[in-house]
Amino acid sequence: MSAALPASGREWHLVARPHGWPKAEDFALREAPVTAPGEGRVLVRNLYFSVDPYMRGRMNDVKSYTPPFKLDHPMDGGAVGEVIASNAEGFAVGDHVLHGLGWREYAEVPAERAVKVDESLAPLSAYLGVLGMTGLTAYAGLFEVASFKEGDAVFVSGAAGAVGSQVGQMARIKGASRVIGSAGSDEKVRLLVEEYGFDAAFNYHDGPVVEQLRAAAPDGIDVYFDNVGGEHLEAAISSLNLHGRVTVCGMIAQYNATEPPPGPRNLALVIGKRLRIQGMLVNDHAALQPQFVQEVAGWLASGELKYRETFVEGIENGFDAFLGLLRGENTGKMIVSLA
Ligand SMILES: NC(=O)c1ccc[n+]([C@@H]2O[C@H](COP(=O)([O-])OP(=O)(O)OC[C@H]3O[C@@H](n4cnc5c(N)ncnc54)[C@H](OP(=O)(O)O)[C@@H]3O)[C@@H](O)[C@H]2O)c1
Repeated sequence: MSAALPASGREWHLVARPHGWPKAEDFALREAPVTAPGEGRVLVRNLYFSVDPYMRGRMNDVKSYTPPFKLDHPMDGGAVGEVIASNAEGFAVGDHVLHGLGWREYAEVPAERAVKVDESLAPLSAYLGVLGMTGLTAYAGLFEVASFKEGDAVFVSGAAGAVGSQVGQMARIKGASRVIGSAGSDEKVRLLVEEYGFDAAFNYHDGPVVEQLRAAAPDGIDVYFDNVGGEHLEAAISSLNLHGRVTVCGMIAQYNATEPPPGPRNLALVIGKRLRIQGMLVNDHAALQPQFVQEVAGWLASGELKYRETFVEGIENGFDAFLGLLRGENTGKMIVSLA
């Protein structure tokens, strides 16, 4: 244990369930007392916390794979911090840990839910992104769910984001015949081609996705990694080759929709092309973690795999960071820095 703990810390609460786009009034930054850790627990000063698109779903009061955020309670999510008091065997003051109590300055974490991370192997923020949940999503979604094989032509949407940027580069490293990405700005499109080695990329604001994808992949695609849904999914179904595979990872284009969005109008193509469209949840793929970390750490060390992070400074800007993520203000992983 250590002395001189702070008396209180700030944390973000959901105070009303957003209808459509989240508004500042739906959230409140509140002060809460900080207490010494109970038996088997550690007190962590958060240095970084993650804002992720799936959190939008948790703001709705609907049954889903993760429970909704409770109103007037702190929100949670991935975070990395420093242990400032320990009442748990195996954890010492100064250790860095990854845990699930983000959106707050101080977190009292049960030891079994804290994983030690090593700053000498990678910057701490990387454990929220490229070496963390979004990296594993890309790895599992491409190699396990889409059954990627050498020679496949791969299209990924949300391609400059945390998951998408890794999907495209992993496909390239493993011998894709062609990697195509879509993103929401010309600057992101340039990044995909010039820095990440995509063969082609386009800005989905520039015209119909179906036309831009056909031009970028004249011989069709074998794998579509869907982060977006809607028009992108319909276009991908049109461009998929025989026995093509789709990993449905996310549908961010509809997370703020107030009416049920229309489905792909060309779904019947699934029959003749014998397509496989499969949803995924990263939590189902925890067994891949050691292999993922080993392989990705190697690619990072060799410089084959690159990543970006967008930092928003200060807990008071947590809501803005989340909204910015939904608006595409991030390139790579969106992270709130309290460091
Ligand atoms: N199934 C799972 O287990 C799992 C795990 C992690 C993530 N996901 C999903 O994977 C997707 C990417 O997540 P991430 O964490 O890597 O986020 P991200 O891609 O880093 O950030 C979200 C991006 O979505 C794009 N976007 C927002 N609205 C859009 C729209 N209407 N049309 C097209 N693009 C839009 C924005 O980029 P632009 O500037 O390009 O528009 C924004 O930067 C999300 O759908 C998320 O829900 C799923």
